[in-house]
Amino acid sequence: MSPDSTPTLRPNYDVLAIRRDFPILAREVFGKPLVYLDTGASAQKPRQVIRAMTEVMEETYSNVHRGVHFLSQACTDQFEAARETVARFINAPEADEIVWTRGATEALNLVAATWGRANVGPGDRIVISTLEHHSNIVPWQFLRDETGAELAVIPVDDAGEVDLDAYAALLGDGRTKLVSVTHVSNSIGTVLPIREMARMAHEKGALFMVDGCQAAPHMAVDVQELDVDFYCFSGHKTYGPTGIGALWGRKALLDTMPPYQGGGEMIAHVTFEKSTFKAAPHKFEAGTPAIVEAVGLGAALDYIEAVGRDAILAHETDVAEYARERLAAVPGVRIVGHARERGAIVSFTMDQAHPHDIGTIIDRAGVAVRAGHHCAFPVMERFDVGATARASFGLYNMKSEVDRLVEALDEVAEIFGR
Ligand code: ALA
Repeated sequence: MSPDSTPTLRPNYDVLAIRRDFPILAREVFGKPLVYLDTGASAQKPRQVIRAMTEVMEETYSNVHRGVHFLSQACTDQFEAARETVARFINAPEADEIVWTRGATEALNLVAATWGRANVGPGDRIVISTLEHHSNIVPWQFLRDETGAELAVIPVDDAGEVDLDAYAALLGDGRTKLVSVTHVSNSIGTVLPIREMARMAHEKGALFMVDGCQAAPHMAVDVQELDVDFYCFSGHKTYGPTGIGALWGRKALLDTMPPYQGGGEMIAHVTFEKSTFKAAPHKFEAGTPAIVEAVGLGAALDYIEAVGRDAILAHETDVAEYARERLAAVPGVRIVGHARERGAIVSFTMDQAHPHDIGTIIDRAGVAVRAGHHCAFPVMERFDVGATARASFGLYNMKSEVDRLVEALDEVAEIFGR
């Protein structure tokens, strides 16, 4: 019996029907059916997203917030409806607390540049964790270098869990202004205890920001329940298009933050002497926004909600845990990251082969994984690996695809000698 027909799948989760929504999954690579295990880098797109974007361009496309004509108003309505969808998706209190960005990277840069410059000075501290993606390291380094603040890092243990005692010590002296951490590690899959960490930060007067890129497509996210101050995620990792993402911030914070970029759309009035700005979120959205992409992201989030986030979490966990079990049994494979709570990401090395060789060889078998440092050099250093191969799972993956991965790894072992 194929693992996909075992009763571990919930009866209401029809993975084959879901797969039919994703046209690209039907293609072959090097004559083999595609096994796409790189959703952590970017998720594939369902027809519902492709159709929503095509429909905007065929039927209602125009610039937004600018025209009095029919199309501009129709398109503005769709664009703003997508903002409301994002707010509902993360349970933000108000749609006006959602700022469109190009992705999580821009959201993190926006907060570092605007809130950071207005609120951080010499002697202040920003805290991140060892598990961060470069996009949650470099913007804070810019801020540190501009302001004379300190950038401190919460260590992780050998399993890949953040050290909460060390974190408490970093918060202890009250100098920490903001903590910015990932919800789920993109490189080794650790799920961070966000609620607890945010509570600890607030007790010491620090704000709390979350990079939710690997969480938003995988589990239900409720910013009010998590009680954080900023949350961001990228559209392309949530089955939506590239070039769009969202930043949520508490209204009181957004209202007091200076604008990010200057230009059209974000102003209230301009003279050569001075400009005044719109209220949030528009003051952070200079220039024509990614209109079609915002509508596409709205459609993607609707799609996720229609499948059901609890069902997605259960399904992806089932597939990822099966992968861990099967990979752990492959001679020479070492899994990196053993946190108790983890996302649908399995990072591994093989004694016999460099991760780039693994990725290249299994690609010939139609299996796509990411190989490298995963934009997280400090994680690689912490676990003493130059790189890993990473299988990351989406709502469309199946256990039989894990079997294909393991078969392909057998070939790697054969080529490089056991
Ligand atoms: N940040 C993306 C990844 O983890 C690109 O692969």
